Amino acid sequence: MRCFVTRRLLIDAAEQLGDAVETSVFGEDRAPTADELASGAQDASAIVTQVSDRIDRVLLSRLPRLELVAQAAVGYDNVDVAACRERGIRVTHTPDTLTDSVADLTLGLVLSVTRRFHEGEALLRAQRFRGFSPTLLCGTELDKKTLGIVGYGRIGRAVARRAAAFGMRVIASTRSEEPFAPDGLATHAPFARLLRESDVVTLHVPGTPATRHLIGEPELGAMRRGAFLVNTSRGTVIDEAGLVRVLERGHLGGVGLDVYEEEPRVHPGLLERDDVVLLPHLGSATAEARTRMAATALDEVLRLRRGESARHLVPELLR
Ligand code: GLV
Repeated sequence: MRCFVTRRLLIDAAEQLGDAVETSVFGEDRAPTADELASGAQDASAIVTQVSDRIDRVLLSRLPRLELVAQAAVGYDNVDVAACRERGIRVTHTPDTLTDSVADLTLGLVLSVTRRFHEGEALLRAQRFRGFSPTLLCGTELDKKTLGIVGYGRIGRAVARRAAAFGMRVIASTRSEEPFAPDGLATHAPFARLLRESDVVTLHVPGTPATRHLIGEPELGAMRRGAFLVNTSRGTVIDEAGLVRVLERGHLGGVGLDVYEEEPRVHPGLLERDDVVLLPHLGSATAEARTRMAATALDEVLRLRRGESARHLVPELLR
């Protein structure tokens, strides 16, 4: 059996898969192009993919022997699951391998935007630090402020646990708008009220057609003047052009982003602003999470090889 791994991982894929699988790993330090994917995965029964790989119908038609797309991520909006289902191809992902890493990074962005780390660091590196000043770069305390969590799944809850330690009041909305069972961390708020009441809004929904541009100009305008927005979910959840317009009006206090609508492109209107913190999709970038993600995805390849069922099929394939 052949397996193509689209990026070098934190663990050695060939070693984990062993002799029974003929493993090849894309050698460059970038995502493969569609042609490189198609030729690398030629005759492969399994591919281990990343969020940066587009696994669409056209590519799938070039891979007639494919049986498994093992996505090394929790999100899989880059994979055409419907096309895989038609072909009987398994699609798996790696839920629960990166929850704490993404939640940590989310709080990091909340602190960065509210306490203006990036502006302070830029000032210092530009040798403009003249010593302590009582008026320099004053930010906003988190204690008693309201954090609005949009999407209250595993990562949303992990963010709520951390926010409680900062003394924040936490409200959360779910996609169904059904109140969730009280968990002592957050109280349910419908989306519209969450936008109105939050001092900081953080997004934790998956990237799907239903969540595309969930946050656009009207929603941003409905947020409190001076409120902060953080996104570590998927870039498509925010209408970036609308966000830039709202920032230009001075309505928001600041924005922290780890993900973008058309990665790796970032809207030029964001790049030039100093009320925006921009990270290059680092949510799961810890040794612990990336090791678990790789091991979990590679394990799905071994399960296929042994004739076993998948452990983490994507939810659409469970229905
Ligand atoms: C990363 O973005 C993931 O979905 O795991």
